[in-house]
Amino acid sequence: MDNTKRENFGSKLGIIMATAGSALGLGNIYRFPCEAGANGGAAFLIVYLAIALLIGTPLMMAEFIIGRRSRSNPIGAFRKLDKTSAEGGKARKSPFTLVGYLGVLSAFLILAFYTTVAGWTLGYLGKSIAGHFGGQDLAGIQQQFSDFTSHPWLPLVCQGAFLLLTAVVVMRGVKDGIERWSKILMPLLLVIMVVLCIKSLTLSGANEGLRFFLKPDFSKIDAGVLISALGQCFFSLSIGMGALITYGSYIDKNDNMLSSAVSVTLADTLVAVLAGIVIFPAAFSFGIQPEAGASLAFTTLPMVFQQMTGGYFFCLIFFLLLVIATLTSTISLLEVIVAALSEELHLSRTRAAIIGTVGTAIIGVLATLSFRPGSPLHIGGTTVFDLLDHATAMYLMPIGGLLIVLFVGWRMKRADVMDEMTNGKWKENSGKMKEGCTTAAPRRHSTFHSQLSTLIYLIIRYLAPVAIAIIFISQLLK
Ligand code: PFF
Repeated sequence: MDNTKRENFGSKLGIIMATAGSALGLGNIYRFPCEAGANGGAAFLIVYLAIALLIGTPLMMAEFIIGRRSRSNPIGAFRKLDKTSAEGGKARKSPFTLVGYLGVLSAFLILAFYTTVAGWTLGYLGKSIAGHFGGQDLAGIQQQFSDFTSHPWLPLVCQGAFLLLTAVVVMRGVKDGIERWSKILMPLLLVIMVVLCIKSLTLSGANEGLRFFLKPDFSKIDAGVLISALGQCFFSLSIGMGALITYGSYIDKNDNMLSSAVSVTLADTLVAVLAGIVIFPAAFSFGIQPEAGASLAFTTLPMVFQQMTGGYFFCLIFFLLLVIATLTSTISLLEVIVAALSEELHLSRTRAAIIGTVGTAIIGVLATLSFRPGSPLHIGGTTVFDLLDHATAMYLMPIGGLLIVLFVGWRMKRADVMDEMTNGKWKENSGKMKEGCTTAAPRRHSTFHSQLSTLIYLIIRYLAPVAIAIIFISQLLK
């Protein structure tokens, strides 16, 4: 594909917002509390924070580097870079060329089950507009959740509507569709989460929930907690499957990817922690089990709104923002599929979006229907939904992430990687920034950026692969 024809994000804020848009979503507000609740609360949180900091940002950088260097979708990216990275410039094809396919497969499977819950958010937006939660007690709200998720067609209609909405935005292209939405609405989500935290912390009995979430019992950390936290971190930061390779391919060559990666990791982690601070104190206060799983966020939050002055209004705004946060995530998932299909098979964006959407819908319907009681859509006692969730977060994303860091750390040339990380200001021999590269920025900044880039490179090359491999293997041996 002609590089000059590729669209770029319009501004530095654009990349941060689009990447944050991909990262922030159901992973933070729905999946994080589910996983933390099932894995000991604070013990999970500690492991999660360590992984986000040590592996999250470096892996995000690795994906940006692959994307911007290749200016290609994940499949094309590995093919192109594999060729140019071969020692002596010889075109020796390595198995790394398969990693891009793995990423596109992951995007497809994630989008399929993600749109199940995305559909619920749309349904819950409808319920909050209609005032369905007003005057309900816990049993009533729990009943509403099970009635809604097991309804024969309503969740399917919501899922279909959500997919359609995603497809329409993706067809319009990266800049117009993705960037504009994220820029305005993601900060607003942060504000509403803070308001919710304040309310939740003032509920009676909130302390016990806060203790569950923030006071770690280290003896609870085992292989299961490690892999769950790793999978959750990859899922939440949208890493390990090519979404950020795709977005990286739209980043301008002068943009500072490192500060974007750090900002997005921090913002994403902050929203997840805030979600925990909203949900656990409230859950303990209302007597909802922290292991409640899928229903945790969808029962706890409406209960919190019930207790608030102006609860109707806050509930409505919250679910509207959640729908939008979810939409910016589904957009990034469909974009992986569309970029790959349109560039690899030379299809128009519209055609690629239609194929991606229909394919996702077929699997997605099975995930949604597997919530119906007595549904035959269980494989080995697990719903199709959980199966897709586990297969991607616990297997495909960690494997994808491992291969991505190995590729950048060991297959790509160090000079190319550092060049990307420092926007062409890396001087190979001295390991420092090139002279005269810092006309606009003070010298201290340049040294810091250079040292941080080196540190991230070393993490990508050594620490990240070892840590991911150990966690992944320890889970297999459990
Ligand atoms: N990061 C998203 C969330 O936390 O909801 C989910 C997601 C989006 C995962 C895009 C992967 C992805 F490529």
